[in-house]
Amino acid sequence: MNAMSRLFLLTAVLAGCAGMAMGLVMGILHDFSLTAAHAHLNLVGWATMCLVGLFYAVHPRAAEGVLPRVHYGLAAVGMVLMAGGLIGVGSGAMALEPVLVVGAILTLLAMLLFAVIAFRALWPVPAPA
Ligand code: HEM
Repeated sequence: MNAMSRLFLLTAVLAGCAGMAMGLVMGILHDFSLTAAHAHLNLVGWATMCLVGLFYAVHPRAAEGVLPRVHYGLAAVGMVLMAGGLIGVGSGAMALEPVLVVGAILTLLAMLLFAVIAFRALWPVPAPA
């Protein structure tokens, strides 16, 4: 398995552990103010990064070069800032809203870059021999 795939999968596993632990604490305390942070840590962190890691494992040539590294940087920093911003805003610290916005923009940029990487790897469909 290539390095990009490992990096995305290991980051996804860490985000999943943090997101699920957050959900368990929310349930125990009956305090759902961090529901948005929990949902995004699980869906952007765990689910999305896990799918991307599997994509790079199936398409190792797409994991070569500088673009996938930039993709990982945008996705990882975006996810951390977005989750941190959502935790802050969910806790009433509205001063952290810009952190959330920057995290969300980086997360979208990561997805757009991944669209370029995925289309370069998958399109056009090769003609049958
Ligand atoms: C140990 C695992 C998990 C626990 C204990 C847990 C717990 C919770 C709790 C307590 C809520 C708030 C429910 C409410 O507001 O009434 C919630 C909401 C949510 N969770 Fe989880 N969760 C877990 C895993 C996951 C995973 C793996 C995902 C996604 C991949 C996820 C996605 C969501 C979403 C999207 C919401 C918001 C639902 C809504 O507002 O309608 N959760 N979770």
